[in-house]
Amino acid sequence: MSNAGIDRISFYTPRYCLDLKLLAEAREVEWEKYSIGIGQDVMGLPPPDEDVVTMAASAAKPILDAVGAEDIELLLFATESGVDQSKSAGMFFHGLLGLPSRCRVVEMKQACYAGTLALRLAALMVADSPGKKALVLCSDIARYDLGSPGEPTQGCGAIAMLVSADPSILVLDDECGVHAEDVMDFWRPNYRDEALVDGKYSTRIYQACLREAWSQYAALSGRTVSDFAHFCYHIPFTNMALKAHDRLLKGAGVTEGRRELVEQAVGQSLGYNRLTGNTYTASLYEGLTCLLDTSAEPLDGKRLGLFSYGSGAVGEFFSGTVVPGYRRSLFGDAHRSLLDTRTALTVAEYEDIFNLCLPSDGWDYSFSQYRTGPFRLSGVKEHKRLYEVAAL
Ligand code: HMG
Repeated sequence: MSNAGIDRISFYTPRYCLDLKLLAEAREVEWEKYSIGIGQDVMGLPPPDEDVVTMAASAAKPILDAVGAEDIELLLFATESGVDQSKSAGMFFHGLLGLPSRCRVVEMKQACYAGTLALRLAALMVADSPGKKALVLCSDIARYDLGSPGEPTQGCGAIAMLVSADPSILVLDDECGVHAEDVMDFWRPNYRDEALVDGKYSTRIYQACLREAWSQYAALSGRTVSDFAHFCYHIPFTNMALKAHDRLLKGAGVTEGRRELVEQAVGQSLGYNRLTGNTYTASLYEGLTCLLDTSAEPLDGKRLGLFSYGSGAVGEFFSGTVVPGYRRSLFGDAHRSLLDTRTALTVAEYEDIFNLCLPSDGWDYSFSQYRTGPFRLSGVKEHKRLYEVAAL
């Protein structure tokens, strides 16, 4: 049994957003469908000079500024919005942040699930080499076709987690329940920038994976739903997480007061996602960050249940216990200020940015400077992506 887990957790989302009221008006849909039916208020948007590398770097910078990079011997970069078929996004990150040369780097993919396997592998590595650290990055841009049912669930963001043998925030439990099944609920062929999805089917597969993963976890651990103070879910849109927990409680035989129980268990983790949209690999951990940052009730010593889901599909239910004194290690003020100071776009500006894809014709290209975090993609030269520290 190890004590390994999350030592620091930091979130970043780009500086542009679209109020979904404006999108509802433009698509001639009732606003309540987005705000109540789907459970989203605002969508985050990356400018052309940000991508998964710059978002992950901006998420990780506060952690590296606080604790240094010397002991990091493993860097796992989870994404389904990769920027190169061969070189991992983590290698660009390694250069941009100046990580030690004795650090293994790899990119991992299984839709929104990959960050969870990265976290578990990182925990195994640090448990085996106490004193050494691992950095897990989850960074994604969720894009669907303009005007499609998935459009209001788009979003973008990154999470950086420092993993250590003696963590300050969350000790992971050993038990987990896993369910994998080859299905086509959501996918993105190499020739497309936008995902394809069988929307209603995807929500059913999500629930089926949760049911299987939870029952395996419950059998292995002997725990029941009442052993958890809160639950964090993968959040493609916030209502999905609420419905998932309702189904979990129903399966556990809870017949009365489920609406209140669901709100109490899951509600506090949803605030950031309502404002950013789906952040794919980062979304579960964005929910966890939101819970830790914003819970008025102290969570010291409390057990949390976590459900990770990646289409295609893999679901994993796992858990952890919040470390006493965790609040000292959070970056809550920075997260709040990031979300409060974004530039709100019109629908026409959003569509312009959406359509401004990186040219694939091989010509050299430089990007105008938009509002970014501390790092930006300055352009492409001889087919090579060029990153730089942004002039803020
Ligand atoms: P849709 O078909 O346009 O929506 O898209 P709908 O007609 O089903 O309406 C949605 C909800 O709004 C319904 O509630 C309506 O009743 C309600 P529900 O029946 O679900 O409880 N509604 C209203 N409520 C209040 N006032 C109104 C109103 N009008 C309607 N006026 C869909 C919905 C989720 C299919 C779509 O957004 C979509 O395709 N999204 C993308 C796929 C997705 O997010 N799937 C989730 C599970 S898969 C997953 O989580 C993995 C993923 O993150 C990718 C990865 O793993 O990499 C996506």
